[in-house]
Amino acid sequence: MRQPTISLSRKEGWVAFANKPKLEPPEPVTRSALIGLSDAAAADYAAQRLRYLSWLTIATPQLSRVHAAMDDMINSDLQDFDRVRSAPVIDAEPGVGKSTAVNVFGREIHREIIAKEGPMVGGEAERIPVVRIGLTGNTTPKSLLVQILDFYGHPRRSGTTLEVSSSALDCALRCETELIIIDDIHFLNLNRRDGREVSNTLKSLANDFPATFIFVGVGVEARGLFDEGLGPYESAAAQLGRRWTRLEMPAFHIFTERQRNEWRTTLKELERGMILVDAHPGMIADELSDYFFARTSGYIGSMMELARIGAYKAIKDGSEQITRELLDTVQISRAAEKRRYELEAAMKSGKLHSLPKQSKHRKPGDVDDDS
Ligand SMILES: Nc1ncnc2c1ncn2[C@@H]1O[C@H](COP(=O)(O)OP(=O)(O)OP(=O)(O)O)[C@@H](O)[C@H]1O
Ligand SMILES: [Mg+2]
Repeated sequence: MRQPTISLSRKEGWVAFANKPKLEPPEPVTRSALIGLSDAAAADYAAQRLRYLSWLTIATPQLSRVHAAMDDMINSDLQDFDRVRSAPVIDAEPGVGKSTAVNVFGREIHREIIAKEGPMVGGEAERIPVVRIGLTGNTTPKSLLVQILDFYGHPRRSGTTLEVSSSALDCALRCETELIIIDDIHFLNLNRRDGREVSNTLKSLANDFPATFIFVGVGVEARGLFDEGLGPYESAAAQLGRRWTRLEMPAFHIFTERQRNEWRTTLKELERGMILVDAHPGMIADELSDYFFARTSGYIGSMMELARIGAYKAIKDGSEQITRELLDTVQISRAAEKRRYELEAAMKSGKLHSLPKQSKHRKPGDVDDDS
């Protein structure tokens, strides 16, 4: 059964997420110990293991690189007033782990500031160091600002955009907000009037709010949010372009030895997160490395989906290990499967392989084009 979902778009949900203690992995047990468990205890152990896997955040190289870049940008800019800070924009494909990376980053900032400054501002207002909202298909300037107000739990819904903006600024000042994360900015459609207004709103937010902004979206550059000097609305977009620093977050690739090492390290972390009674080292990172790559095209979202459903099935059917046969019965999203046959064919013909030199499971024919 699912736990009730907490909304990260409200301060209560965000604070619960930020304060959630790190989940410790459940203790591994032997098969005979598993057999000895009562039905209730076995169900509880299954739930613990699946929850652990659902909560697992792997420190992928992509996540670490984006964190390091954001950390450099934010912590090098210590000026308090009168200058618009440059804002990181994570611009990448769907399902590469953008939201996860930025939420984990925001959580760390939240915890650091609360630990240093305390949970209240001057004994009066709740300190809300980090605000996070996600845009939707029909975001207007006003609805964006209302979403910020909603995060704070502010009751205002009506008024002009300027009035709503002013209330949002009051909240940010009162709660000493230092970081505002705006996810899914691809929902700003710059070809429509609303979208351009949103872009102007973002620009004035960055001017007026004494906070750093982080933006996240799919195809942000391709959608023209960075464009300068094009069309009648160029000034807002151009000014945004100068203030934004684009951070890429690619999916995994396996063309070079370094990339294959990164893929393997990530699979090893995944393997460690799958507490199965009959698991063994290399079960995924060696034996199913090519298989996982072909099925997921190197997207962490698909990788975790395959792993979660695989673990669930392995626990349910009692096999307690991950095999190709089991994963063949797992369906994941269509987008991930689109390239499966193409990648499998390349692997079969020896053109592509995912195992680096350090894996003993490499086939003799696996050549390194980059060495
Ligand atoms: N570093 C990670 N460790 C473990 N799981 C991850 C990691 N990054 C992402 N995931 C999982 O992959 C899935 C997709 O991640 P996420 O939502 O962060 O991607 P996204 O790039 O924001 O996707 P979208 O473009 O659809 O918003 C989620 O289920 C998430 O739990
Ligand atoms: Mg996302």
